[in-house]
Amino acid sequence: DPDGKVVFRVVDYEGARFPVGVFGNVLNSLKALDKATFKDSDVFVVSYPKSGTHWCYEIVDMLRNNRAEFTKHVPPLVGMLPAEKLMQVPDGVLVAHLLPRHMPKNAIQKRCKLVHIYRNPKDVIVSFFNFLKKTKDGAMMQDMEFDVFFELYITDQLPGGLWTKFVKAWSDFKDENPTYPILNICYEKMKKDLKAHVKMIADFLQLKPSEELIEEIAIKCEFQTMSKFKNSNIPEDMHMVTDVKSNHIIYRKGEAGDWKNWLKVAQSEAVDAEVEAANIPLEIQYT
Ligand code: A3P
Repeated sequence: DPDGKVVFRVVDYEGARFPVGVFGNVLNSLKALDKATFKDSDVFVVSYPKSGTHWCYEIVDMLRNNRAEFTKHVPPLVGMLPAEKLMQVPDGVLVAHLLPRHMPKNAIQKRCKLVHIYRNPKDVIVSFFNFLKKTKDGAMMQDMEFDVFFELYITDQLPGGLWTKFVKAWSDFKDENPTYPILNICYEKMKKDLKAHVKMIADFLQLKPSEELIEEIAIKCEFQTMSKFKNSNIPEDMHMVTDVKSNHIIYRKGEAGDWKNWLKVAQSEAVDAEVEAANIPLEIQYT
């Protein structure tokens, strides 16, 4: 932070920063990814943190299992979990906050399907701030003001790096591999019409769920219903990440536009300028 205190313990891996702490030896896990093997049918939800990863994960998992039931485990996080665990994940659905160049080579070779969910970066920053405060990794952040966190973000000092770099890297990947099966999902659009997005994801995965199932998944995955379930079924593994036991720390507000309660005009403009400078393509549009 500006006073020179260490806020996050991070490690540099091939030009990107990763958190160390709760996940143990992340470098080993990242390096081992090149040796990991996957099934052609495995699906990866890729995202910048706090963009609706868990939401998307549950939808993909429900569709693959042809039933509208939530998982009770923490989604398997590629690059953070030891690689051998990734090869035996339930249901062949994984999540990754990784740049394309850090994705497991075998998964890309096999053309595993990727669902990329993105969200307005201003809401992402707010969600990140509130989330990290509740994690063990963010223990040093307890008294941090939002303005200090924002400054760390915009000067590219957070684990995960800048949203723009992440999103641009994935859209460049698509440009360079035009036939690669990757679906872009916009958080805000999915919130507006969840049913249409469940259908869109099913089509992309080449699944044919019944109309009733699509409807049921869409109802269950509304924020209120989903967070209620998750708050009363907190996975055991969450104790690695947080000491908070009263509720599930992922499910906070689930809104589009909460950033208006947090960002000052100058901060909002700084994000706009950063997005504009990064030349984010038209297919990555948010509200
Ligand atoms: P907020 O902190 O703004 O509430 P991730 O899964 O990538 O960590 O993202 C977490 C964010 O997604 C949180 O945002 C969380 O509330 C939101 N989220 C989770 N489930 C959701 C749902 N069913 N509908 C809308 N937003 C959801």
